[in-house]
Amino acid sequence: MIGDWVSIGYLISATLFIFGLKNLGHPKTAPRGNRLGAMGMTVAIFTTIIEMNLLDEGIIGWELIISGLVIGSVIGYIMAIRVEMTGMPELVALFNGFGGAASALVALSESWRYIYENDIVPSGLELAVIYVAAGLSALVGWMTLTGSLLAMFKLKGGVNIFGKWYQTPTWGPSWLNFVKVSLFLSSLILICMSINNPTDENLLWAIIIISCVLGILIVLPIGGADMPVVVSLLNSLSGIAAAFTGFIISNSVLIVAGSLVGASGLILTFIMCKAMNRTLPDVLFKSFGGSEKATLTRTKVGSDAEEVVMMVDGAQKVIIVPGYGMAVSQCQHQVKEFADLLKSKFDTEVKYAIHPVAGRMPGHMNVLLAEANVPYEQLIEMEEINHEFSECDMAVIIGANDTCNPAARSGVGPLAGMPIIDADKARSVVIIKRSLSVGYAGVDNDLFYEDKTMMLFGDGKAMMNNLNSALKDL
Ligand code: TAP
Repeated sequence: MIGDWVSIGYLISATLFIFGLKNLGHPKTAPRGNRLGAMGMTVAIFTTIIEMNLLDEGIIGWELIISGLVIGSVIGYIMAIRVEMTGMPELVALFNGFGGAASALVALSESWRYIYENDIVPSGLELAVIYVAAGLSALVGWMTLTGSLLAMFKLKGGVNIFGKWYQTPTWGPSWLNFVKVSLFLSSLILICMSINNPTDENLLWAIIIISCVLGILIVLPIGGADMPVVVSLLNSLSGIAAAFTGFIISNSVLIVAGSLVGASGLILTFIMCKAMNRTLPDVLFKSFGGSEKATLTRTKVGSDAEEVVMMVDGAQKVIIVPGYGMAVSQCQHQVKEFADLLKSKFDTEVKYAIHPVAGRMPGHMNVLLAEANVPYEQLIEMEEINHEFSECDMAVIIGANDTCNPAARSGVGPLAGMPIIDADKARSVVIIKRSLSVGYAGVDNDLFYEDKTMMLFGDGKAMMNNLNSALKDL
């Protein structure tokens, strides 16, 4: 009877996960998707606790379960409340790593049962299934942990040790690919060997060490504009590790949830690859991004808000290009006000050009602009809006750099081949940022120095406020 309720509980949580994921597909329904996912996880946790304590007659004490739930919830709550919008990508990378580590630890504890607690080792097919799943879960899980930690520091730009700042390196000579493939193959061989020697502790530690090194070596060469691909790939791997762990402990909801995360992460990875015009093997083995930032030698005189407003007076079409700087300065509400003022004063048609990797996480710009109540139909994807720039009076770039850097068309450097927003094809261009400095990929941007470009130097929010005041005074 209890077994039936447990199955129903798992079915409900799996259904909630699927509907949650579907709702996450659109900014409007995404908050509901998040709530459904959280509800699904709550149902899954309580169903698992009931299963463990009632069906299996209490494998684990209530003290451990309750203290684990309380400590985990408090840490998660504090992190979620305190994180700045700009710190979200690092937090997501860290959580990916924790997800991978959690799955790997469950796999480890299952293997330990046979090594240290003298549990009866299964035989035949059951042994092979458990050990292959445990080995793969360890491989993917530990790799995800170390890879995600490195990705987190790459997104941060470096690490602060005792007050001294160390930049996170991007390093990947071509011989490293041979090392990566060799390590991957040896871990698969070790997993096969562990089926014949299920109680050999050394094999277990060898798999763990190789997986940890592999995670670092995979992420180390990837940098610059290719980071979105690696973040979504690690997200997918954390799900795949969970699915393997579901097989080991025969937990159906873990298999379903892990597969959903793994599959959706993989889809996102390929969307990011398409956005960067790369294949996944290109990103993993070719190492486009260098850690060197370009040295700036050119100068450009800045403009002021009044000058820009004089130029935009009577414009029929303006396209706003948001980027990471808009997220840093949190000026999305001022940007919306600017668009509203243009519409009411000059009846200007305003649209937003959204690059798939603008900002630091997938959908970053959509989330911010949705928060400011920008109508969804005005948010146009790069591929659909690029042809409109040639007939646009002004492109207003707010804190974007790499995503509209014409250097990407040159075919060399970290941005090589990445499709960009064609803002340089507009009749005039206004760029709001604090200086002439480079974007995430470290490449100087010729667009800043073009005659038709006006630079508004300053924090995004302050500059947008200046523009809005100047527009109101007109
Ligand atoms: P970036 O190329 O990173 O440039 C952002 C610009 O914003 C900087 O040049 C900076 O210039 C400016 N900025 C920073 N703070 C500002 C502020 N308070 N006010 C005004 N401007 C400010 O941005 P992008 O065009 O959005 O491109 C995103 C890059 O990040 C791509 O290379 C992408 O591959 C990478 N990336 C993306 C993701 C995802 S998933 N989207 C994940 C990891 C990495 P100043 O310092 O001069 O102000």
